[in-house]
Amino acid sequence: MPWRVEPEWSPESWKQRIAAQQVLYPDRLAVDTAVEKLRSLPPLVTSGEVEKLKSLIADAQEGHRFLLQGGDCAEALADCRADVIASKLKILLQMSLVLVHGLRKPVIRVGRFAGQYAKPRSSLTETRDGLTLPSYFGDLVNRVDFEAEARKPDPHLMVRGYQHAAMTLNFIRSLIDGGFADLHHPEYWDLRFMEHASLPESLRAEYQTMTRQLSEALRFMELLGEKSVDDLTRVEFFTSHEGLNLLYESAQTRRVPRREGFYNLTTHLPWVGERTRSLTGAHVEYFRGIRNPIGVKIGAKTTPADLVALLDVLNPWDEPGRIVLIHRMGASGIAQALPPLLRAVRDAAPAPSAVSEPGRGRPAQGRRVLWVCDPMHGNSLTTADGIKTRDFSQMIEEIEQAFDLHRQAGTILGGVHFELTGEDVTECIGGAGGIREADLTTNYASPCDPRLNYHQALEMAFVIARKMGNGIA
Ligand code: PEP
Ligand code: CO
Repeated sequence: MPWRVEPEWSPESWKQRIAAQQVLYPDRLAVDTAVEKLRSLPPLVTSGEVEKLKSLIADAQEGHRFLLQGGDCAEALADCRADVIASKLKILLQMSLVLVHGLRKPVIRVGRFAGQYAKPRSSLTETRDGLTLPSYFGDLVNRVDFEAEARKPDPHLMVRGYQHAAMTLNFIRSLIDGGFADLHHPEYWDLRFMEHASLPESLRAEYQTMTRQLSEALRFMELLGEKSVDDLTRVEFFTSHEGLNLLYESAQTRRVPRREGFYNLTTHLPWVGERTRSLTGAHVEYFRGIRNPIGVKIGAKTTPADLVALLDVLNPWDEPGRIVLIHRMGASGIAQALPPLLRAVRDAAPAPSAVSEPGRGRPAQGRRVLWVCDPMHGNSLTTADGIKTRDFSQMIEEIEQAFDLHRQAGTILGGVHFELTGEDVTECIGGAGGIREADLTTNYASPCDPRLNYHQALEMAFVIARKMGNGIA
């Protein structure tokens, strides 16, 4: 296929460009040692899995599948524990079940895990009580404790991050192979928390009906026998993280026997963040050359011209399944910011090197993208006490608006992206659990952005199923 050619690109060609958010390591020699070590280690994922995900995303671009992406804002090395990993899988699985049933579409499950260790920050430094230290850039770079030694960028953390990603993924694969998602484990399919008293009565009744129908459908599947249960519960999880630390990413970017081009084999779906997606910057240079499907975060200030120019560079062949555009505009910004972008992508001139595809032909106009809504990053709030939080109702509002705006533009909202955890944290306000501002300090564990807790995440899936499905009937 002609789209496999990447002119004048190498896994290290990004070094010729300016990298936003790049880490200044004090010890260059230690960086080289860490990168060499990373290069020598076996990959975390295979090119076959990466290509499989790309083909699923291509289906989702046509409206035949829906993408659910979720996990921590910043994954912590210390959270590489059986209980934490299992509960993250459980919530994603339960959400996907609600979505499959509500949307009547297969769901592609993508975790923000097994490598989500690097964080962009709006400020290079942090000051507390008169002391200024480097900001915390994620466990791949430095440590969260507010001490000079902990905040010093340490290249060996790239190797530690990689090892922890490997252990995380190993456990995830074992859980799945071992029947984690099997229907005979009823605890994974129990969605009864919706009986919680703080839901409005009408909504509670509706969610109870949804839950009952879902359970009946599952029981029915079970009655049909092992084969159909296997089909229903043959669960695949893919991994994703922000491709921020390009030393880490490029050290594991390699050619694969019998395939063309280079693959980033640290993850299936790396994404480029809102702060690093400059057209001329190092990150876009790196991303344009890899064969993985890639996510691109876009905020409310993105212009239509910039977005189309970005697509020209990142997907000149208009390859199906290649681009996931994750809009994160905020409930108050989306109505103004999103429609011009939807129209621009929908009506763009064909990509510079767009090719005909068997059975599809050459597109007359427009670009192939999967539109995904991230209702987290445009809705950050700081309380009077200085706590970073988000309001559940604003997230819902953004998703509902996104759905309507896509429908009006004739485009498809094909997925959602959340910061969430399977734990019982108190980081976001609202939802059926009734978390108030005063509750935030009860169990606030995230070192970066606030995450939906288990109940809020599951409720979110119900809300989406209700809005985007035709009701669960
Ligand atoms: C994130 O997803 O944690 C993040 C930093 O997002 P964005 O690039 O959209 O701000
Ligand atoms: Co975040």
